[in-house]
Amino acid sequence: MCGIIGYIGEENAAPILLNGLKKMEYRGYDSAGIATLSDDGILLLKDKGKISEIDQKVNFLDLKGKIGIAHTRWATHGGVTYENAHPHVSCGLEVATIHNGIIENHHQLRKKLMDECHNFNSDTDSEIIAHLLERYYKESGKVKKALLQTVQTLKGTFAFQAIFKHEPNIIVGARKDAPLVIGLGKNGNFLASDIISFIDHTDKVMFLDNHEIVVMRGKRMNVYTFNGERIVKEITQVAWEAKETSKEAFAHYTVKEIHEQPKTLRTAMHQNSKKVLDFICAIKEAEQIYITACGTSYHAGLIFRNLLARIAKVRSHISVSSEFSQNVELIDEDTLVIALSQSGETADVLESVSLAKEQGAKVFSILNAEGSSLSRESQMNLFFNCGPEIGVAATKSFTGQLAVIYVLIFSLVDDSKMSNKLFDIPRNVEKVLETEKNIIKIAEKYKDDSDLYFIGRSIHFPIALEGALKLKELSYNHAEGMAGGELKHGTLALIEEGKPVIVLNPKDHTYDEMLNNISEMKARGAKIIGVSNRPNGMYDDFIQIPKVDELLYPIVEVIPLQLLAYHTAVLRQRNPDYPRNLAKSVTVT
Ligand code: AGP
Ligand code: GLU
Repeated sequence: MCGIIGYIGEENAAPILLNGLKKMEYRGYDSAGIATLSDDGILLLKDKGKISEIDQKVNFLDLKGKIGIAHTRWATHGGVTYENAHPHVSCGLEVATIHNGIIENHHQLRKKLMDECHNFNSDTDSEIIAHLLERYYKESGKVKKALLQTVQTLKGTFAFQAIFKHEPNIIVGARKDAPLVIGLGKNGNFLASDIISFIDHTDKVMFLDNHEIVVMRGKRMNVYTFNGERIVKEITQVAWEAKETSKEAFAHYTVKEIHEQPKTLRTAMHQNSKKVLDFICAIKEAEQIYITACGTSYHAGLIFRNLLARIAKVRSHISVSSEFSQNVELIDEDTLVIALSQSGETADVLESVSLAKEQGAKVFSILNAEGSSLSRESQMNLFFNCGPEIGVAATKSFTGQLAVIYVLIFSLVDDSKMSNKLFDIPRNVEKVLETEKNIIKIAEKYKDDSDLYFIGRSIHFPIALEGALKLKELSYNHAEGMAGGELKHGTLALIEEGKPVIVLNPKDHTYDEMLNNISEMKARGAKIIGVSNRPNGMYDDFIQIPKVDELLYPIVEVIPLQLLAYHTAVLRQRNPDYPRNLAKSVTVT
C-alpha cells in the first residue's frame, strides 16, 4: 500500500508534506513525490528511490504554495520508475492526483480516454484518476460534480486526492476500501492515509468512511456520499502522543518497538471488562468460530485456537485470510468470525470479513488502533492499543494480540490465578530484553547461514513460524518454521553438518519429545540453538528465558527471536524498518 497526505492552510505546504511522507514511509518506499499549487500553477517533484534520497536530488522544499499533495509508493501496477511515481498529472497539467489502492477497470478506462486523445505518461492504474477528473471538470467546471462522476466511474479500491490548477484553494479526496483521515489543525487541515503523518500538528481527526468524498476549501470542508448527499462527521481526539512516532535513542523503529513490549503488554492486558464479557458470551453462544488473519497475526490466531481448545474446550477453525473464501459455504448466521489485525487495513482480512457478513455471520475483531476499516466493519472490537507500530515487521503488535487473547481465554474459564500470572509477564519480558548482548553474539555467529530452521511443538509451533517469518522479512535469510514432530517426515533430509536449528524447548509437556528431535538432528550434524528456561548439554548455543507458566511461554520466547531477526538484519546491512518489497499494511489482495 502507499502513503498519501495532503495539506491546505496558511503555511508552506512542502515542508509539512515532506515530514508527513517520512512518517509514512513504512507504508511503501519505492518512489515518492510532492505536487503543490502556486501562482504559477501546479508544481511537481518526484522520483524513484527512498524519500531522503529523492529529496537530496530534487530538493522538495523548493516547491512553493500553501496547498499540496504527496505520495510514497508501493508499486502494484507499473514498475518502479520516475514516470510511475505519484503524483500523476492530467494532459494539460490541470489536475494532479495521488492514489492508494488498485483501479480494477483501468485498462478499459485508459483505452476510452486515449480514444478521446488523452496522453498518458505512466503505465500505472492510478494515472487514470487525473485524466478523468480533468475530463469531467472541463465539462462542468464544478469540482464536486467532477469528483462524483469520477468515483462513480472507478472500480476497485482507492483513497485518492487531487488539486486543480484553476481551483487555487481546494483539495479533494475520496475513499473506497482504503484508509483516508482528515486532520483539523490550527493553521491548516490535513488529508492522509494515517494519523501518524500529521500527529505533530493535531490530534483532532475525522475518519472518512467508505463511499465518501471530501471537498476542502480553505479552512472549510464538506463531506458527501458518492451520491452527493452531504453528511456531518464527528471529530475524534486521538490518544497518540507525537513522541510515540519518534525513534528516540534507538537506531531503528523496529528495535524501539521490541523494547517497548513490557509497556505495551501492560496496556494491552487492561481491557474493558464489559467488552470482554460481551466477547466471551459471543464465543460461548456461537455454533461455530472461524479465526481469520494474515502473517504474524495469523500466528497469533494459531495460539488463540490452541488455547481455546486446550483451556476452554472450545472448538474453532482458522484460515489465513487469503484462503478464507473456501469456507464461505460453511459460514452462516450462527458463526462468529474473529479477525486479528494490527493495521485493520489488510485487504485480505477485510475481504474475508465482508464475505462472512454476507453469510450473516457476526464479526468481532482484535486490533491495534481505533478508526481503521476493520474496526468499522466489525460488530465488536478489542484494541490492544500498543501505539503506532512503524517498523514493517510486527513485534509489539504481536505480543499485544497475544495479551488480549490470554485475557479472553482466562476470562472464559474464569481463572484469576492465571490472570495474575499474565500480569507478571511484562517483568519477565524485561528479563529477556536484558539478554540482548547474548542474542547479538548468536546473530553474529549465524548471520551468513542461508537456511535456518525454527521448530516447536504444541503452543511453541506458532512461535517457530513467527521466528522464521521475522528472520526472513528482516534479514532476507531464508528460514522455515515447523512443528518439531514433522521434521522426520521429510525436512530432516535437509539437516546436514553445521545447519542451524532454533529449538523452542522450555521445560513443559513438550520438553522430552523435543530432546528426541534434537538428538535426531545432532546425529546429522545440526547446530542447535536452544531457547529454554534451562540449559542442556545438547545445545550448541543457549538462549535463556525465564520460567513462567507453560501456557505463557509464547510471549517470552518470541522476544529473543525478534531480537535475533533484527540484529541479523543490521549485521547484514539491511534496513530493518523498511524491508525490501514489503509494506506495513497490505491494502491490496
Ligand atoms: C509481519 O511482521 C508482517 N509485517 C506481516 O506478515 C503482517 O503481520 C501481515 O501483513 C498482517 O498485517 P495486519 O496484522 O496489519 O493485518
Ligand atoms: N496501484 C497504485 C500504483 O501502483 C498504488 C499502489 C498502492 O496503493 O500501493 O502506483
